[in-house]
Amino acid sequence: MTITSTNQGPVSRITLDNPDKRNAFDDTLIEAMIEAFERAGADDRTRVILLDAAGKHFSAGADLNWMRAMGELDADRNRADARRLATLMRTIDGAAKPVVARVQGAAFGGALGLICAADMAVAADDARFCLSEVKLGILPAVIAPYVVRAMGPRQARRYFMTAEVIDAPRAGQLGLVHEVVPAVDLDTTVERLIAALLDGAPGAQRRARELVHRADGSAVDDAVVDYTADLIAELRTGAEGQEGLSAFLEKRAPNWKPDRN
Ligand code: COA
Repeated sequence: MTITSTNQGPVSRITLDNPDKRNAFDDTLIEAMIEAFERAGADDRTRVILLDAAGKHFSAGADLNWMRAMGELDADRNRADARRLATLMRTIDGAAKPVVARVQGAAFGGALGLICAADMAVAADDARFCLSEVKLGILPAVIAPYVVRAMGPRQARRYFMTAEVIDAPRAGQLGLVHEVVPAVDLDTTVERLIAALLDGAPGAQRRARELVHRADGSAVDDAVVDYTADLIAELRTGAEGQEGLSAFLEKRAPNWKPDRN
């Protein structure tokens, strides 16, 4: 067993579940994860995907036996294999539902890619992070787009080169995770984020990543102005926007809000 998937109402929980191997990932786990994220994304009942891990550590990143064994494959198979890890990162980044990561213990190497590809991450205050690849003679290559997006290029240069261990408070400052809380508060913090997500409109949430991407601080040119104006014009006249605006003005809950009685 490498991962476990469970459904709890509107939450699909995908758990790295190979603690004896420190949840290190090889080709089998990567395929299982891609499949689980696609399935949760396509499941109409699912509103939020929770990514977490069994055992003491979130994940030791790529399985180093598997990485080393790539030296025996031909170039095409080696490249194809690397692309599956890149596909996993992109699948999480583009998941059809918001993704929340829950992190305890060590999150090394590729594990940081999973965390940074998620929409939001909560870590226990004793969690440890490391981009350890350079110590192994490799680089955090396929995870770089997500990690650099999270911590920024200047910080990434340092940590890609030094492989220093990053403690949880520092990971919070760097933007690798959104919240750092005592381990006993991890679940309630995750639940609070999930509750907030369930209160929001699912269609609008689906468009939020693209909006952030288009409004990420690069030049505000005519195309960006057009895009943002068109987006609000579309959303406020759409069924979901009309429902949300009416619900507020009529002092009632919108129709997507779960009944918490
Ligand atoms: N790939 C394959 N096996 C791994 C692994 C990895 N990424 N990380 C740990 N393991 C194995 C260890 O070799 C050890 O195997 P053994 O029981 O046969 O000796 C077992 O998992 C437990 O590892 P250990 O280091 O004793 O566990 P720990 O709880 O003290 O520390 C880590 C956990 C994750 C901090 C530590 O294992 C580590 O630094 N791993 C390397 C992580 C890394 O650099 N990943 C980058 C991948 S690109």
